[in-house]
Amino acid sequence: MRIELALIDSEHTERLGAALARCSPRSAAGALTVYLQGELGAGKTTLARGLLRELGVSGVVRSPSYTLLESYESAGLRILHLDLYRLDGAQDAGVLGWREEWTPGALFLIEWPERAAGAIPPADLRLTLSIAAQGRQARIEAATVAGATWLDALRGEPVIAEMNRV
Ligand SMILES: Nc1ncnc2c1ncn2[C@@H]1O[C@H](COP(=O)(O)OP(=O)(O)OP(=O)(O)O)[C@@H](O)[C@H]1O
Ligand SMILES: [Mg+2]
Repeated sequence: MRIELALIDSEHTERLGAALARCSPRSAAGALTVYLQGELGAGKTTLARGLLRELGVSGVVRSPSYTLLESYESAGLRILHLDLYRLDGAQDAGVLGWREEWTPGALFLIEWPERAAGAIPPADLRLTLSIAAQGRQARIEAATVAGATWLDALRGEPVIAEMNRV
């Protein structure tokens, strides 16, 4: 199961993030995890920003490039935004202390998950951004039952149909 979309500008990237927030299967038994993949500058943080805003996070959404982890509390949801680009090997992923946060209702957004393969929560959704002639190309794949439910709901979002047409 996958969706491919054309994101013509960064506003589109944020709107895709917002659509993901609206569709997230809150009833999922455990925590939910989205891997945000793609080269440097592909738009991963931009997407996370759109998602966080839609969940009611106000104020500045900083890139966790240097802190590795930024956490938020909104609408009864605990959201962890990680950027593992600077992580030095899988062992170091333990120091992030994410395990204590791996609780029902938590949402993990992880940039550069490949830097800590096997040492972070498994993905429900894998979202890959790539730089295109105009804007970005997005590919979203479901990796679990909760992820498939999420992707199904996303297909019903009007903004998704619009991005498909481009
Ligand atoms: N669909 C798009 N079309 C054109 N530019 C975009 C699009 N989406 C995001 N951008 C722009 O790409 C730039 C980099 O975005 P962003 O910081 O989100 O990338 P990133 O993938 O998080 O990078 P890093 O790997 O360094 O964390 C920003 O200037 C952003 O506005
Ligand atoms: Mg980033």
